[in-house]
Amino acid sequence: MAVSRKIKDMQSSSSFIRKMFETGARLKAEFGEENVFDFSLGNPDLLPPEEVSRVLLEEAARKDWHGYMPNAGYPGARASVSGYLREEQGVDFQMEHVLMTSGAGGALNIALKTLLNPEDTVLVARPCFMEYKFYCDNHGGELVIVDSGEDFDLSIEAFEKAIDGRTAAIIINSPNNPSGKIYPESTLRALAELLDRKHRETGRRIYLITDEPYRKITYDVPVPSVMKIYPHTLLCTSYSKDLSLPGERIGYLAIGPDCEDVKDVINGATLCNRILGYVNANALMQRTIARLQGLSVDIGVYRKRRDLLYRGLREAGFEVSLPEGAFYLFPKAPGGDDMKTVDALQEENILAVPGRGFAMPGYFRLTYCVGEDTITRSLPGFKRAAAKLF
Ligand SMILES: Cc1ncc(COP(=O)(O)O)c(C=O)c1O
Repeated sequence: MAVSRKIKDMQSSSSFIRKMFETGARLKAEFGEENVFDFSLGNPDLLPPEEVSRVLLEEAARKDWHGYMPNAGYPGARASVSGYLREEQGVDFQMEHVLMTSGAGGALNIALKTLLNPEDTVLVARPCFMEYKFYCDNHGGELVIVDSGEDFDLSIEAFEKAIDGRTAAIIINSPNNPSGKIYPESTLRALAELLDRKHRETGRRIYLITDEPYRKITYDVPVPSVMKIYPHTLLCTSYSKDLSLPGERIGYLAIGPDCEDVKDVINGATLCNRILGYVNANALMQRTIARLQGLSVDIGVYRKRRDLLYRGLREAGFEVSLPEGAFYLFPKAPGGDDMKTVDALQEENILAVPGRGFAMPGYFRLTYCVGEDTITRSLPGFKRAAAKLF
């Protein structure tokens, strides 16, 4: 067999998502693009702000940027990001703490490769972005998914129960994909206290990896700085969602200036950035984002869609909480059956992802990276599906 057993296993465990893509393509071919309501993909449909193409063209006109560069990225881009982060996080970042990466996914892989020893585990609360499982496996670690508390908040008790001698790190994703939850400061403080206590008891420092590509897409409450609360933190993020640039693969890893063994972590991560095969983040994009710190797409557009879809779902009878950030709704599946719900929606040409794709069966995810008109036209379908399911 040409493909390794491990990859075959991974393919079959994520095969329902592939099946859904295939179904989507089939429905679109049969009924036409505009008659299929595709809420399945987290691929931003808003165009990047005008400034992005203006700066991109100016930078492309320069002739001196095609070479290799220091592994951590262009000093100018790193200095610009660290300056922005000082404001955003209220933490004293310098250029040396920032590494430009191939998206948030690249940053996460670099963080995990830097920290993990064979057999180490990484904890995360459900529901979660399931790529974390593969990312941990890439570096010899294992992802352990723990239960969450009320209203998708972190459960400190669940983390306490799960932490053992193998635990190297905890991943936090806020605003969360798929729940839209922003973990409150009080929860993060309680988690930091737990990790400090574990450190005193065992001598092992557990790092936090905070995955924040949705930080700028928030509606009602701010996203607290994890780094400020717990200095032993590695922040992973990108411009994929807030500038609508996922295909350009640009993001960064920011290492807590006061984290334990900070010099070692920076040096390790710099090596990992090179040897994972990315070599360095895209040069043109580094130069571009260096000039666009703090910019984002119009979040008001996502807010209007969120409110429209939320109201429509509630009217149809679905139980759903209002997301605080990101661009997903995560309603309860009627009767707790996420597969049956997704199937019933599919009969209405509505594509959704079952909660089991985020380690949380009993729910389903809808992405509002579609226009208001699509949402409005989909609402009768949600009503009909609900009538069958309840
Ligand atoms: C929670 C989360 N983390 C990381 C990523 C990967 O982001 P990027 O495309 O910047 O690598 C995604 C993409 O959907 C995501 O939802």
